[in-house]
Amino acid sequence: MSTPVLDKVEAESAASPYITVTMRIRRFNPEISAESVWQDFLVEMDPKERVLDALHKIKWEQDGTLTFRRSCAHGICGSDAMRINGKNRLACKTLIKDLNPEKPILVEAIKGLTVLKDLVVDMEPFFQAYRDVMPFLVTKGNEPTRERLQSDVDRARFDDTTKCILCAACTSSCPVFWNDGQYFGPAAIVNAHRFIFDSRDEAGEQRLEILNDRDGVWRCRTTFNCTDACPRGIEVTKAIQEVKRALITRRF
Ligand code: SF4
Ligand code: FES
Repeated sequence: MSTPVLDKVEAESAASPYITVTMRIRRFNPEISAESVWQDFLVEMDPKERVLDALHKIKWEQDGTLTFRRSCAHGICGSDAMRINGKNRLACKTLIKDLNPEKPILVEAIKGLTVLKDLVVDMEPFFQAYRDVMPFLVTKGNEPTRERLQSDVDRARFDDTTKCILCAACTSSCPVFWNDGQYFGPAAIVNAHRFIFDSRDEAGEQRLEILNDRDGVWRCRTTFNCTDACPRGIEVTKAIQEVKRALITRRF
């Protein structure tokens, strides 16, 4: 005979949003093997939770050796870009319900950069390319005594490329970068664009010359992978095209 207490438990269980999800993660530990292996983890998830929540549950409750980067958990720091079901995304911005959770969800490190362990790659070549384009305001003459003024129109010229969080989702989705890690890659060009088109900056020519290099902007094959991958919605390919045009016309 059912009791009010049992009825309540059954009703709560029927209403539970939790489902069992298979997280299939490509594991790599150079201290154990030179080869990576796929490993399945079963995790109880509310479909409204994110891939990052699933990774946390695995790390905290099942296998503390699972290695990945994350910091802000809110799409700001750019540290948790990974390949999820074959597409570059931020784990903290990807909901389980949007990934067809009846099937295993595949999670692996981004491509084109050396995997150090599990989902962690060596970001140094990526950041070196970023440093190479001088991602800071360059001006000549004396320091002004008040702020450098800029019109709304001038500010809007580079607004899109200010949104970059350096997650590397674009660069590591680029087939040119996969084949030749010497290519500056979309993220470095986006960050060069941000200063080349800033009316207050005076090193545009210098940055354009850096990107005129054999490994520079002309390597782009306009595949749009970068634009598709960008979690900030930046029109990456358009920015690259604008830098190419500035190199030809020297107008920016
Ligand atoms: S342009 Fe977009 S995808 Fe590329 S590093 Fe910046 S935020 Fe990430
Ligand atoms: S953890 Fe910071 S962007 Fe995802």
